Formats: sequence, C-alpha cells, structure tokens
Amino acid sequence: MAQTPPQKPSALSLERLPKSLELLKADDGQVVLRYVDQRQLPYELVQVSTASWQQVIDAIVTLAVRGAPALGVAGAAAFALWVCNDACFADKDALVCKARAVADEIANARPTAVNLSWGVTAAFQVFEEVLAQPEEQVKSACFDAVKELEAHDEACNRAIGAYGSALLPCAEGGATVLTHCNAGSLATVFYGTALGVIYTAAMDGNIARVYADETRPVGQGARLTAWELAQVGIPVTLICDNMAASLMAKGEIDAVVVGADRIAANGDTANKIGTLSVAIAAHTFGVPFYVAAPTSTIDVTLASGDEIPIEERASSEVLDPLYAGVDIYNPAFDVTPARFISGIITEKGVFSPASIAQAVGVS
Ligand code: MRU
Repeated sequence: MAQTPPQKPSALSLERLPKSLELLKADDGQVVLRYVDQRQLPYELVQVSTASWQQVIDAIVTLAVRGAPALGVAGAAAFALWVCNDACFADKDALVCKARAVADEIANARPTAVNLSWGVTAAFQVFEEVLAQPEEQVKSACFDAVKELEAHDEACNRAIGAYGSALLPCAEGGATVLTHCNAGSLATVFYGTALGVIYTAAMDGNIARVYADETRPVGQGARLTAWELAQVGIPVTLICDNMAASLMAKGEIDAVVVGADRIAANGDTANKIGTLSVAIAAHTFGVPFYVAAPTSTIDVTLASGDEIPIEERASSEVLDPLYAGVDIYNPAFDVTPARFISGIITEKGVFSPASIAQAVGVS
C-alpha cells in the first residue's frame, strides 16, 4: 500500500484551513455571510459572500454549507442577515410575525441536524429579548449573537479535541484512526469535532494515520475529510466505504471517531449514512467507536433514535442520469444504536451514551 511517511506534530498546518463561515460587515455597511462553497472542494477553494438570507438557505439545501455545527451557525447567520438587511421595523407586530416565518423557513431547510434549529432559535431569542430597543441596537445584538456562536463553536471543538485525544489508544508511532463523512473544520466554523480529536491527538504526537471513508453518495470523506487532513499534513488514506470492515478485521484500526447530526436522550445517534455499518464492524472486531459532537447536537426531546427525522435526498446524488426501470433510495443519515457507541465526546467531557442527557443538565 503506498503511504506518505508520518509527519512530526509540529508540521501540522492548521492555518491552511479556512474558516468555513463568518459573518462580516461589508464596506458598504451591509452585513454579509462569507462561506466556503464546499461543493467545489477539493479542486477549488471558493469563498462566497452573500447579504441574502435566502441564499444561505439555498447553500444549506445544496450542501454548499454543511455539517451539523456549521448548520447551527449558518442558521443563526441567515436570521441575522434578514434582521440586518431586510426586516422592516415600522410595525413591530408585523415584524415579529415575519421574523417567526423567516426563522421557521431557515430551521426547516434540512431536517436531521438539530443544530440548525438550535442556532436559529438562539438568534431568534436574542432578537425577541432586544426588540424593545431602537432598530440599530436590535441589528447589532443579532450580529453580535452570531459572532458569539462562531467563537463558541471553535471553543467547543477545541475542548472536544482535548477530551477525545486523551481517549485514543496510545499505539507505538501513534494511533491509526478511521472516520466517516466529514466532521472536520469544514463541518464546523473551525477545527472540527471528530477531526478536532484527530488534530489534537496529532499535536499530542499520537496519530500515525487516518483512514477516510469516501462516504457515498456525496463523497464528504473523499472530497472534504481527505482534503482537510492533507492540507494540515496528517497522513491520510482514502478508502471506499466497503473497505472499512476488512481493515478492522485485519487489526489495522485502533479507533473510529465520527461526528453526529442528532443524539437522542438514550444515546442513539444519527450521522451520515454508512455510519451504522462502520459502528457494527467496529463492535464486531472490538474497535472503540467514538462519537464527537457539541452538546448542541443533543436532543433530549426525543427518547430514542427511532424518532429522529431522516432526510431523504435527490436520486441524482446516487446516479445521474438515472436510467429507466430503476428506483433509487437515498437517505442521507442513519441511526447508530447506543449499544455500539463506546463514548460520546462533548465540550463538557466524555459521556456514556446512556448518560448523555446529563451533558445538557437532564438526569
Ligand atoms: O449531509 P451532511 O454533509 O451535512 O452530513 C454531515 C454529517 O453527517 C457529519 O458527520 C455531521 O454533521 C457531523 S459534522 C461535525
């Protein structure tokens, strides 16, 4: 197998990763969201700026902006764009009514990652709290709320990285870790959750290599995870999804770390389609399987994973053009039962799936 030699931790180049999204004030006074158009990666790093909240919804629906924590901040930012650039403050009752409709439209852009509605709700609450104040102060408060969420996202990811790094087995020359989809810097504002664990472990001198599942049908592993790791300087091997189990059977994988889109009260976890197969293989071959996610991904209103809404996406993602006589089923996520999860790494510490509700103060 062709492999690039492991690099020293000091060679990590995190500065080569862009912030995946950032709310900014443009020179003309408009508020804009600058985001990486993830559909263009790995071949081109394209950053787009928009003042339009509807364009942010479009970016979310088309996966230009994706990944649960990034969706949370993007949702809040879309709402702030509406407040700052489009809202009409003349009639407060009409304003609140329209604000609710806008918030709902953004929150419903994609159904599975609970972070999206979490982010929109956070921005909407700030809006409601300051509504009695003059227009400019309402706008500033909404802008500042998004900037706080951006900073909070990175702080959570760095804490997740520290907790997760301490969990990885210490192998000679570093641990070999497998991941699925992209739970990296691109899927957050910066640093990543599952890849945050890997970045911190690499800086701690405990990563030999990462195997990235390509993650059919959209290829988040092939296009985004492998790209991120290569940018940063961590040895990465891209594999097709159907190769992960055989690597585990051969004892080549020390641990699996993945992200999450929604974690139910009993620890069942929705993540990118294919995660379930990886978890079953890890369980079968005795490989620890960790989920890394901020507490904004936990939804204690759902008792189990059976209640998590699973997005179904267009058939064209699987085969385009499709030919006559064939139907396509394209669920974007699956649910890994809690019993296959060794631990859930959050910014508040590591929890067993059964005790995950405690991470959000529910016992
Ligand atoms: O459809 P996507 O690309 O938004 O799905 C993303 C995932 O499933 C990620 O693994 C998950 O959101 C965790 S991101 C830190």
